[in-house]
Amino acid sequence: MGSTARKVSLTGIKPTGEPHLGNYIGAILPALKLVDDYESLYFIADLHALTTIRDRDLLRHYTRSVAATWLAAGLDPDRTTFYRQSDIREIPELTWVLSCLTGKGLMNRAHAYKAARDRNRAAGKEDLDAGVNMGLFNYPMLMAVDILIMDADVVPVGRDQVQHVEYAADIAGAFNAVYGDRFRLKIPAAVIPDEGSAQTLPGVDGRKMSKSYGNTIPLFESEAGLRKMIRRIPTDSVPLDEPKDPDSAAVFTLLERFGEADVVAETRARLMAGGMGWGEVKAQLTDALNAQFAPLRERYEALMAPGSELDDLLAHGADKARKQTRPLLERVRDAVGIG
Ligand code: TRP
Repeated sequence: MGSTARKVSLTGIKPTGEPHLGNYIGAILPALKLVDDYESLYFIADLHALTTIRDRDLLRHYTRSVAATWLAAGLDPDRTTFYRQSDIREIPELTWVLSCLTGKGLMNRAHAYKAARDRNRAAGKEDLDAGVNMGLFNYPMLMAVDILIMDADVVPVGRDQVQHVEYAADIAGAFNAVYGDRFRLKIPAAVIPDEGSAQTLPGVDGRKMSKSYGNTIPLFESEAGLRKMIRRIPTDSVPLDEPKDPDSAAVFTLLERFGEADVVAETRARLMAGGMGWGEVKAQLTDALNAQFAPLRERYEALMAPGSELDDLLAHGADKARKQTRPLLERVRDAVGIG
């Protein structure tokens, strides 16, 4: 935030599961590239996770695990601002202030909320809001504040989150229309990182790797666990001696992504010629993944250990974040006439 005034980019990560290879390739690596061009902020959206997670230990675990994952993947806490959403007490306060300026109809039209109602309708429920808590309903409101309180210029998100960033822009506009002569919120824009084929990683069944398909490979699986998991990947039953189509098998596609180029080329040729079995490809894939991720896994495990520097890093990040959020909230409080 120095005088060169680089644009601010904000990435929010919801801690609702164990990170897998698809997250790493599709979300983590592209997001970490922003550091060179933007003043980059990353935060763990644990207040958002609270809309669905009811188990306190699990929520804590996911929060630490996601933080450790991003650090192990190369997030540099000295070059970025990296914090936990719930450490920033200004966020819920600004959420209240801005909800008072936001039409309820806007939230009624939010995709996630509408989808929940559609599910209830399809299930023949009389109450279309059944199972919808106020946190879920207000989800876009809280997300708008995450963005606005940091003065973010750009918010890199997947397509499903674009509407939420547009809401943040609308809400900032509503605030500015009323109080703009005293204080103005910055209007953010969504950016969708390149979704080229380079970003789509197949899961163990060949479909896109995704938690909802149950076809993921956890990022920090132990070598033994990895070996076992990869051995179980289904392959066709073409006999060993016969030629095989490399591109028909998820194991090979994954090997193409993580293996050394010469190993990949040789394996392709041997599969097509016949005489090579899938078991050997699986062993190659295990070795390739292990070579690439063992160092990250070590760093991850060190960070996850009780008493590691993880908690200090997050606390330090929160201090840094509050240098932005405190003065901004003060100006908002003054503008609207509270406090
Ligand atoms: N809703 C986002 C998701 O599910 C996470 C998130 C919360 C977020 N607050 C944010 C993303 C602010 C970007 C900016 O992925």
